[in-house]
Amino acid sequence: MSTPYIDKEDHVEKSSDVVWHLASVSHEDHVKLNGHKPAVLWFTGLSGSGKSTVANAVDLMLHQLGAKTYVLDGDNVRHGLNNDLGFSDVDRIENIRRIGEVSKLFVDAGLLVSTAFISPFVADREMVRAQLKAGEFVEVFIDTPLAVCESRDPKGLYKKARAGEIKNFTGIDSAYELPKSPEIHVETANKTIEACAKQVVEYLKSKGYLTVKGSKDIL
Ligand code: ADX
Repeated sequence: MSTPYIDKEDHVEKSSDVVWHLASVSHEDHVKLNGHKPAVLWFTGLSGSGKSTVANAVDLMLHQLGAKTYVLDGDNVRHGLNNDLGFSDVDRIENIRRIGEVSKLFVDAGLLVSTAFISPFVADREMVRAQLKAGEFVEVFIDTPLAVCESRDPKGLYKKARAGEIKNFTGIDSAYELPKSPEIHVETANKTIEACAKQVVEYLKSKGYLTVKGSKDIL
């Protein structure tokens, strides 16, 4: 099947007369005003692992500290920007590619953006990392055993997948490739949501994300 978004020749043709417009407000200006370093906090893990819950808890903590933040969530983005995509490998790759591009714009605007997508493939996560500068991609592995995710089954999807009513379900009949060396490894099984979120915020504090030289620090 030929899909417009993977047609490279078409893409080149369309892009050749488009030039990059320099912004009046630079990336550095955004960062200085915000008073913290920007980054993508890339939450990855199985469906039902707690990615969205922890990402939102982190977002709230950072917001309360005065950071400029946003959450991009798989279930929500698939209702809009990515509502043409399903769960085949090709569609998941495109899903992550688009989110990577959007995240890059948020980072350019100086935000701490949390993304909560299963993003099952190592190569796709590394592709997003490669598009950003060192330190701008923080991989957060929300490590919850499949059995725990399946017992929670908040949307009843595992039950449907086991019954064969949903195909290509991550962890059942579609792969989840474990992160090799995530910046943050959150083992959720015996922790509260707050403790998981604190682990992420403490990492950001300890690595100096929440202070910027020459600006009014948010801490
Ligand atoms: S990803 O694999 O492309 O990164 P994404 O995070 O956007 O996935 O969407 C995952 C969400 O879609 C799950 O939390 C679940 O609610 C829903 N979903 C529906 N079908 C599937 C499926 N086959 N595999 C995984 N999740 C699915």
